[in-house]
Amino acid sequence: MARLRTAVLISGRGSNLRALLDACAPPDAAAEIVLVISNVVGAGGLERAADAGVAAEVIDHREFAGREPFERALTERLERADVGLVCLAGFMRLLTPGFVEHWRDRLINIHPSLLPAYKGLDTHARALADGVRIAGCTVHFVRPDMDAGPIIVQAAVPVHPGDDAASLATRVLTAEHEIYPLALALVASGRARVIDGRVEIDGATAPANPLINPAQGIVG
Ligand code: GRF
Repeated sequence: MARLRTAVLISGRGSNLRALLDACAPPDAAAEIVLVISNVVGAGGLERAADAGVAAEVIDHREFAGREPFERALTERLERADVGLVCLAGFMRLLTPGFVEHWRDRLINIHPSLLPAYKGLDTHARALADGVRIAGCTVHFVRPDMDAGPIIVQAAVPVHPGDDAASLATRVLTAEHEIYPLALALVASGRARVIDGRVEIDGATAPANPLINPAQGIVG
């Protein structure tokens, strides 16, 4: 079966990009990453793409008169590369409804929270301030509202005593690197499809047990 030509948009270090590149390296992977675009000059992820032999380019949003012309340039480049799916991986620009609708059900994102909780920035600090015991991350199809859209995969991650935003972010990031390749494979293979605004996944299993935190009750 033909592999799904996929692009990844980044703004920074690109650790999720790296996880996606690694997962797509085998020739029988359902997705093939053919293009990486950064809106930030010198983003670390550009080197990761180059190391993997994938075309890596900068489209600097500051060179455009507004969001629409910037996004037109993105779409023009993505379509020239004949891309069928776009993955946002730490891409730090809000996208207009026009762009999102153009790529409807062909645009996915990873967010470091259990959506719909903690949309936006500083997710870990806000979760810790609320005293949550379980944090996590989500891969979802993108819709015009920020950090909204049909959920593909989530991972739940325990909050440990003494966590700060950095330690929690590190633990969640490890889970991000597992679920983004999984979600990409599910979408690219056609097993994950949006039906009536939610994602249905053919033949997927789910864990039998809940994640409980704290793990043990106090005895006595
Ligand atoms: C990740 O935490 C991702 O969930 C968020 O931005 C961060 C990007 O990290 N959207 P990286 O560039 O993939 O390392």
